[in-house]
Amino acid sequence: SKVPAVINEPVKAYIPGSDEVKSLIATYKKMWKEKTEIPMIIGGKEVKTDKKIKLSSPQDHQHNFGFYFEGDMSHVDQAIGSALAAKSKWNALGWEHRASIFLKAAELIAGPYRDIINAATMIGQSKNVHQTEIDAACEFIDFLRFNVEFMTEMYAEQPVSDKGIWNRVEYRPLEGFCFAVTPFNFTAISGNLPTCMALMGNVVVWKPSDKQVYSAKVIMDVLKEAGLPDGVINMIFTDGKETAEKVLAHPDFAGLHFTGSTKVFQGMWKMIGDNIHNYKSYPRIVGETGGKDFVMVHPSANVEAVATGLVRGAFEYQGQKCSAASRAYIPKSLWNDVKAVMEAQIKTIKIGSPEDPSNFVNAVIDKNSFEKCKGYIDRANAASDANVIIGGKYDDSKGWFVHPTVIETINPYYESIVEEIFGPILTVYIYEDENWNETLKLVDTSTQYSLTGSIFAQDRYAIEEAYKALENASGNFYINDKPTGAVVGQQPFGGSRASGTNDKAGSKMNLLRWVSVRSIKETF
Ligand code: SER
Repeated sequence: SKVPAVINEPVKAYIPGSDEVKSLIATYKKMWKEKTEIPMIIGGKEVKTDKKIKLSSPQDHQHNFGFYFEGDMSHVDQAIGSALAAKSKWNALGWEHRASIFLKAAELIAGPYRDIINAATMIGQSKNVHQTEIDAACEFIDFLRFNVEFMTEMYAEQPVSDKGIWNRVEYRPLEGFCFAVTPFNFTAISGNLPTCMALMGNVVVWKPSDKQVYSAKVIMDVLKEAGLPDGVINMIFTDGKETAEKVLAHPDFAGLHFTGSTKVFQGMWKMIGDNIHNYKSYPRIVGETGGKDFVMVHPSANVEAVATGLVRGAFEYQGQKCSAASRAYIPKSLWNDVKAVMEAQIKTIKIGSPEDPSNFVNAVIDKNSFEKCKGYIDRANAASDANVIIGGKYDDSKGWFVHPTVIETINPYYESIVEEIFGPILTVYIYEDENWNETLKLVDTSTQYSLTGSIFAQDRYAIEEAYKALENASGNFYINDKPTGAVVGQQPFGGSRASGTNDKAGSKMNLLRWVSVRSIKETF
C-alpha cells in the first residue's frame, strides 16, 4: 500500500487583520501569561526536580513566561534505561504503525497544534509570525511526512536476484540507543532529529537546547497525542557537557544526531573516539555545525535581486540561521546601487516583539548573543579596516534587540567576515571588477565553513565559473537567490568542512544513517 501522497505543507499567509493572525496572536497572548511548567519526559512520565529554572522571553527579559525542571546525571541514566527498555517492542512494531504515528503528528501540527507550536516558538525563540510558520509548522510537518515517504522508498529498494537464489536487504534500526542534541534556532530541526531516528525504529535520548524548551514541550505533547509509545523518545534538560560524557561512554550508544556548534560537535566526536572500544558497533555520527555563508556577486547581477537577497538572507530571524548570508563580495561597479537599495529596504524594517506581526526583526536569543553582536559592532566602529555603514544600534533595555547592521571592510580576513556571529550582522567586501577570479578563490578559502552560499549573476559563463570554483565552498548552492530557506524534499540540506557531515536533512541520505542494513541471500 502507498503512504499518503506528500506535498510541502502550504505556508499560511497571515495577512494583517486576518482571522489567521488574530487567532495566532490570541494564542500567543494567552500562553505569554500561563507560566507553563515544563518537565522532562522520561519513559513517558513527566519528571520534575527541585531545580526549577525560570524562562524569560528574548523580547522581554523581565517577563517570566514559564519554568523548566533541570535534571542531573541520574536522569540521564533513567533516560537511557527507558529508551533501552522500550526498544524491543518498538522494533517489533510494523513499520506502517511507526509511520502512522508520525503522520498523525503532522496532522496534529497542521491542525489543532499549529497556533500552539507557533506561539511557543514566537515566545521562547523570538521569531516573527512568518518565520515561525515556515519553521515550527510547515518545515516540521514536511519533515514528518516526507521522512515517511523516504522510509518507504528505502524499504522498497531491493537487490536483483539470480536464478535459484533470492537476495534481499533488511533495514534494521541501530543496535542500542541514539542521542539527539538540538539547537534553539529551528523548532523543525529540533523535532526532526529525534523523530527521524525513531521513525527508523530507533529509541532516543533527546537533549534540546535550554533556549528552546517551550516548543520542545509542545513537540512531546504532540507525539504523545499521536500515540508514540513511552520511552521511544526521552527528553532531558541536563548539563550539556556532563550529559555528553555520560551518554557517549555508554556501551549501548549507537548514534549521534547533532545540530549546534562546530566546537561542541568536535568535542563529542573526540569523546566517541576515546570510547570506541566500549561500543558494540561503530556509532553513526551526523552533525550540522554552523556556517559563514557567502553571497558572491558578479558585475552582471541584477541589483534589486542582490539587495533583496542580502537583506532577507542576512536579517530574517535576526541572522540566527546557520544558513544566514553573513559575508558578501560585491563588485565596485555595483556597490553604490546595491547599497542604496539595501538602505531603502532596511529603513522599512520594523524591530520589536513578534506579538506585533509587522515586526520583521525580533530579539536575538539571549544576553550572550546580544553581547557578542555588540562586540562585533563596537570593534568595527573602532577599526581602521572596517566601518559600520548601516544600522549598528542595539538596545537591551527591554529585550535583546540588535538592529540590522552592515559592516564594510577593506580586509577580506577581517573578523566579522570570517567568524560565525549568529546575529543580524552582514559584512561586505568590495572587490575591483577585474579581480573576479581572485575573489572566487577568496570566497572558497577564507573561512573554515562550507554550508550555504549564493552566486548572483546574469552572465551564464560567470555562473558556471562560480559553480566550478566554489564546488566545495558550500553544501547548498543558490543561483540568484538568498542562501536560506531550504525546503524539505526540494533542497536536501547540509554542509561539509567545519559545517558538518553533510548528511542532508530532509532527504533519504539522512535516514540511511539511522539503519544498519542486513544483506540476505537464500539459495533454493
Ligand atoms: N534549513 C535552514 C535553511 O535552509 C537552516 O537550517 O535556512
